[in-house]
Amino acid sequence: MDRLIGKVAVVTGGSRGIGAVVASTLASQGAAVAIVYKSNAEQAQAVVDKIATAGGSAVSFAADVTDRSAVDSVIEAIVKRFGHIDILVNNAGIFESSPFGNIDAALVQRVFSANMDSVLNMTQACVPHFPASGGRIVNVSTNLIYSPRPGTSIYSASKAAVSVLTHAFAKELGARGITVNAVAPSMTDTDMAAATPEARRQQVIANTPAGRIGVPADIADVIAFLASDESRWITGRTLLTDGGLTDAL
Ligand SMILES: NC(=O)c1ccc[n+]([C@@H]2O[C@H](COP(=O)([O-])OP(=O)(O)OC[C@H]3O[C@@H](n4cnc5c(N)ncnc54)[C@H](OP(=O)(O)O)[C@@H]3O)[C@@H](O)[C@H]2O)c1
Repeated sequence: MDRLIGKVAVVTGGSRGIGAVVASTLASQGAAVAIVYKSNAEQAQAVVDKIATAGGSAVSFAADVTDRSAVDSVIEAIVKRFGHIDILVNNAGIFESSPFGNIDAALVQRVFSANMDSVLNMTQACVPHFPASGGRIVNVSTNLIYSPRPGTSIYSASKAAVSVLTHAFAKELGARGITVNAVAPSMTDTDMAAATPEARRQQVIANTPAGRIGVPADIADVIAFLASDESRWITGRTLLTDGGLTDAL
């Protein structure tokens, strides 16, 4: 498939997990990809090498997306390298669980900074570099915003904020030809989900009509669609990508 030929995509959290497969998927469809990661240079390089071996184009850049000045510097470097930006995938994030009684200001700050401030920082830094014809922004939320589990209140609230930014920015950026959408994955097999107790995994599998845990490609294929011209009439939406797990009418 070559629907992204000529497009430049920025993928945060592209060194591992869902983001790594998003980067490869967008590259396989023709996009030149800038992978932003925090500290795993080796894994980011492995993703770049894999894309190059498959005939695609990618470069990795280290930046902490919670830090606005680091974001401004990395976007400047990306624009210097690629000229402009057509697609932004705000995928970087962290998961921390904590029961009600243990929530403190530091936890709230860490989780909101990594999950919500990062989306604001990247979106503000990238939008001026989108062409006049517009582009695509895809954020990564979670199905937990519809049905938070005990211990996930702060994580779920930070991702609900991501979905609200998605819906609000869609209205503000629509006139620029930019669509803004989010995906809301359920449990997906990555490092982030690795600490989940086996009993909980089995419960998710049993409650998912598709009968399994998600894999990064399940999410990456939807993100690639939302990054393509084919999704032009969808904006301001959070799409559940959960194999049917969540009841969110
Ligand atoms: N896995 C799930 O079950 C699941 C379910 C729903 C939603 N999600 C969401 O999906 C997204 C990807 O999750 P994942 O499971 O693929 O996560 P992961 O395997 O833990 O990978 C996280 C990625 O984000 C990067 N990152 C984290 N903080 C960063 C920061 N401050 N600056 C720059 N990069 C940063 C990491 O870079 P380094 O490699 O350099 O550390 C890594 O590339 C997250 O937003 C997560 O909340 C995941």
